[in-house]
Amino acid sequence: MAHRTVREREVPPRASVLIESLRDVGYSLQTAIADVIDNSLTAGAKRIDLLADPQADSAAIGILDDGAGMTEAELLEAMRPGSRSPRDERDESDLGRFGLGLKTASFSQCRHLTVATRKHGSLSCAVWDLDIVTATNKWLVQFPESTEVPWADRLTGDGTLVVWQKLDRLVGRTEPTAQRDLTRQLSETAGHVGFVFHRFLAGRGRVRIALNRHELEPFDPFHSDHPATQHHSQETFSLGGQPIVIRPVTLPHHDKVSTAKWKRFAGPEGYTQNQGFYLYRNRRLIVHGTWFGLARKAELTKLSRVLIDIPNSLDAEWKIDVKKASAQPPPPVRERLRQIIDGLGVPSKRAYTARGARLTDDRNRLPVWTRSQNKNRITYGLNLDHPVFTSFSERLDTGASREFHKLVKLVASSLPLAALFADVSADPRRVVTPRLDARSLEQHVRTTCCTLRRAGLSESEIEAVLRSAEPFKSNWDQTLGLLSRVSTEQGAARR
Ligand SMILES: Nc1ncnc2c1ncn2[C@@H]1O[C@H](COP(=O)(O)OP(=O)(O)OP(=O)(O)O)[C@@H](O)[C@H]1O
Ligand SMILES: [Mg+2]
Repeated sequence: MAHRTVREREVPPRASVLIESLRDVGYSLQTAIADVIDNSLTAGAKRIDLLADPQADSAAIGILDDGAGMTEAELLEAMRPGSRSPRDERDESDLGRFGLGLKTASFSQCRHLTVATRKHGSLSCAVWDLDIVTATNKWLVQFPESTEVPWADRLTGDGTLVVWQKLDRLVGRTEPTAQRDLTRQLSETAGHVGFVFHRFLAGRGRVRIALNRHELEPFDPFHSDHPATQHHSQETFSLGGQPIVIRPVTLPHHDKVSTAKWKRFAGPEGYTQNQGFYLYRNRRLIVHGTWFGLARKAELTKLSRVLIDIPNSLDAEWKIDVKKASAQPPPPVRERLRQIIDGLGVPSKRAYTARGARLTDDRNRLPVWTRSQNKNRITYGLNLDHPVFTSFSERLDTGASREFHKLVKLVASSLPLAALFADVSADPRRVVTPRLDARSLEQHVRTTCCTLRRAGLSESEIEAVLRSAEPFKSNWDQTLGLLSRVSTEQGAARR
């Protein structure tokens, strides 16, 4: 809207107020450290060290890199809140956007930020101290001697060292608590860093990131190197000429991985919660485990994770925020993502229902439980044609046989589905079927053998049926022993 200017006045922000407000953009320690690491990677670092000194009175955190470093003029520019316009076109490997991250991330955790940097051998240091800005109400940067900067001696070649002191939001007042808290928070942060930057930490030309000399492991949420991981077809979608690459994956079913791996890939929130899109901007993870409001997180799709790769030229369209921790797909992409989700129910569902289907799809199998699907309803019931049931029922008189059928129906109708579902979702390995004692197994083998033989099956056919039916399948060695004994006995009896 055009106004006719009558008079104008400059209204600069109050330094003492704005600098305090910049602290509350919503960073956590994890997102703050990731934002500083973004700068190191953009500067071409191959080695990044997270350093920590948890002593309460001098507690400090350092992020040291061996990237290109900055000249003094560049350092001064880097210290400026709003050092570059978000509208600038950035180099295609640049992880920055707003010209704010270094400052906002650091202020969110500390009141004293030092940047020491060396470029072409020449060292420069600059400090933002929030107490000085607040006291003077001026945007004043100090230039300390490098000897005053913790860990400055480790900046031997070109590179940059960011140091946070006065950690008022991280460190408690009492020393033992302070140390424990900071150590715990940093080890959680190490996990987050290994996750967010996993694609930088693996493969050729990989970057090394260490916390107090302990190297961080990448965590690839797609379990890409496991043979049972299903990689579905990749698709490239173009938005304004910029590529968006989408790669759906179905993680391995729990019987294909070790317990430790199953838990690790579930993540602390579990598989159901962690299904969804994993959005990477320039290979750096921005958001994970969300369907962007396009679908519900269902149990059936809990093994589905979909990688989306976007370039930094689409930041505005995806509404990437300063912290690089949230994004929203632009409308034309939403439609395509919705279609991808629709197609996805299938693979993830298949991994889970294959085992159920196997129970009923083969006529030779003898299920104790049957699963039947009618339109949208799935019901489980006991299979009264199972030889163990039929032979028992045959021995009863009509009244008792009717009672027996009612009893079986009662058992099937009171299957505790909700509890089963909850237990299996929480930890499938803890849900086990009770063991059958040897005498019961023997009785079931006898009855079943006898019934099947009467039905005209050969010995080898009987063995094949039993091999795939419960309770014999799960007790196969004993069943096989019993089978040969029973067939000898029954053969002798027939002669
Ligand atoms: N470790 C570093 N090595 C070299 N240069 C750096 C380093 N950290 C920051 N800089 C310089 O300082 C500038 C400001 O960094 P800052 O994180 O505030 O903004 P940005 O990275 O440009 O954008 P964003 O706000 O999205 O992070 C960077 O653009 C870069 O030029
Ligand atoms: Mg940055």
